[in-house]
Amino acid sequence: MSNRRGPDFETRMAGDEEIPPPPQFVDQATVTDDSVYDEFEVNWPDCWDRAAATLDWFDPYESVLPDDEPPFEWFAGGTLNACYNCVDRHVEAGAKNRVAIKWESHLGETRTYTYQDLYREVNEFAAALRAQGVEEDDVVTLYMPMIPELPIAMLACARIGAPHNVVFAGLSADALATRLESADSRFLVTCDGYYRRGSAIFLKSKADDARLKAAHDLEEMVVVEHLGETGHLGAGQHTYDELVEAHAGAEVAPVERAADDVLFLIHTSGTTGEPKRVEHVTGGYLAHVTWTSQAVLDLKPEDTYLCTANIGWISGHSYVVYGPLALGTTAVMYEGTPNYPERDRIWDLIEENAVDVFYTAPTAIRSFMKWDTSLPESRDLSSLRLLGTVGEPIDPRAWKWYYEHVGNGTCPVVDTWWQTETGGMMITTLPGVKKMKPGSAGPPLPGVGARVVDGRGEEVPANEAGYLVLTRPWPGMPLALRRGHRWGEDAAKFDVDGWHYFTGDGAKVDDDGYVTVLGRVDDVINVSGHRLGTMEIESAIVGVEGVAEAAVVGGNHEVKGEAVYAYVITEDGYEEGEDLRARIIEGVEDAIGPIARPEQVVFTPELPKTRSGKIMRRLLEDVANGAELGDTSTLRNPAVVEEIAAKVRAQSD
Ligand code: PRX
Repeated sequence: MSNRRGPDFETRMAGDEEIPPPPQFVDQATVTDDSVYDEFEVNWPDCWDRAAATLDWFDPYESVLPDDEPPFEWFAGGTLNACYNCVDRHVEAGAKNRVAIKWESHLGETRTYTYQDLYREVNEFAAALRAQGVEEDDVVTLYMPMIPELPIAMLACARIGAPHNVVFAGLSADALATRLESADSRFLVTCDGYYRRGSAIFLKSKADDARLKAAHDLEEMVVVEHLGETGHLGAGQHTYDELVEAHAGAEVAPVERAADDVLFLIHTSGTTGEPKRVEHVTGGYLAHVTWTSQAVLDLKPEDTYLCTANIGWISGHSYVVYGPLALGTTAVMYEGTPNYPERDRIWDLIEENAVDVFYTAPTAIRSFMKWDTSLPESRDLSSLRLLGTVGEPIDPRAWKWYYEHVGNGTCPVVDTWWQTETGGMMITTLPGVKKMKPGSAGPPLPGVGARVVDGRGEEVPANEAGYLVLTRPWPGMPLALRRGHRWGEDAAKFDVDGWHYFTGDGAKVDDDGYVTVLGRVDDVINVSGHRLGTMEIESAIVGVEGVAEAAVVGGNHEVKGEAVYAYVITEDGYEEGEDLRARIIEGVEDAIGPIARPEQVVFTPELPKTRSGKIMRRLLEDVANGAELGDTSTLRNPAVVEEIAAKVRAQSD
């Protein structure tokens, strides 16, 4: 593990306050009995039966987990179909006219899909994909904004057993090309374009660029006409509407998938320069997200639920699409950003749709606090029953603001810790059972094993910072971990007894077993809940003409949580200045996307390196944060840090 901050990284104090679950919430909650924790301990791993029981299986599984060594074959022998679980079974159970997805555009347009509507369109598109030559286990890449055709395409893929590979629409053509290659995917569904904060973004032209850049040919491309700007379509390119119309009324039997057949691939940032491919499987993943949607989000079929996550990331896969739809809930899907067209758009959505459960990210909460506290209060938010957050640490002040101003002190707040790799929630309070501690995510969920260890793998004493490791397999674990493989960054191999997975996060545990997550300790930074690898950004910058060397770190940011700081050495003969800065920003946007755009580019003649030539990133973080500089005595040239700090101060003024 490359240890960016070291075990003594900054500790963040959770507040001392303890808040019991609101009684009116407990009265109706699905899980209210503390004994669930013991049951999972006494009866592990069979207790995970509960998660699997939220699903309909074609063939029942023979064993919950046959072996506690890899390969971990969760629900071995069972077969199921994720689309059947999210759509058909609700139609068959008589809920055909319940709303499945209510889509709201930022322009005020709405589209409503009942479970019957969803059934129809998913079947038609599944038939269309088959007719395009997509076979079971072919990977279909979906490069789409937040429009209903995205979950429809995901479910259509799941129906025919074709793993989907969703790529966030904000990523660049280069990033899409890399992900098409990494997934060896020859089918692409995209969209002509969409509006982002009022400006049109032409996605199809980015997809065309990616097609030219990818090392292999695309066989077929489907384009959803969303802006009405599709233009000329070449060979192997079709509009979504034309295909769906051609298969009107078609029905496709849901394919029986084994529990560990892949449901989807998703790429995230790791500590290498390459995106990290994570594969989630049908049985364990779906059981995990459905059970946690029920036990943690307390979702019920009659609920209306709003999650602001983009489906391009794991939170949207698990808690906009799969978990809520598997439970037969009504999901509100919002196309735009929380501040467009107005800063009260989210409160509007909650009021208009009488939303019961709201799940968002701390970065959004920090923006809401900054904008105008009275905005949520000017709306009727009394339909809300539960609030959740995910994606970053939430500080006690933002937690309390959320609890009081949005939840009116009557809704529990679940601070849910998990990752792309875990597939679903791992550490958080069960809202009908556990007291809340603002700033701390809570205890591991029943059945989840989490420990905080030092660099040698030994458990650290309560309230001391260390590395967060997961010590037991869980149903939503990805294929690599199931098979006993590890990713590069987990190769550190702490000396922890038995199987474990190193999360890349720092954390501490209090005397009640509540985990406070402190942030990443590896070369991954978290900007507005977007996970970015510093190495990926560095290689984009080094690819710009005139750049000799670059180091990227995360610095604290009031709203974004962290922001990208880039320190750059120019090549001989190139001028530092606005032109190069603009080209660096463009280089990062082209390689990754605007989300990775550096907040500051600082030109420096040298980077702070140890005598052995290692860049001391911790010092660069101190500089970005305007913090007192740590020990510089091991540097080859200690004076350089002060020089860089002076430049940052000058740029910030
Ligand atoms: O650092 C942790 C942070 O987000 C990382 C995972 O990012 P990603 O794979 O993109 O998934 C985000 C959505 C699940 C974690 O390693 N993180 C996520 N949730 C929390 C969190 N940090 C603190 N508290 C959380 N509740």
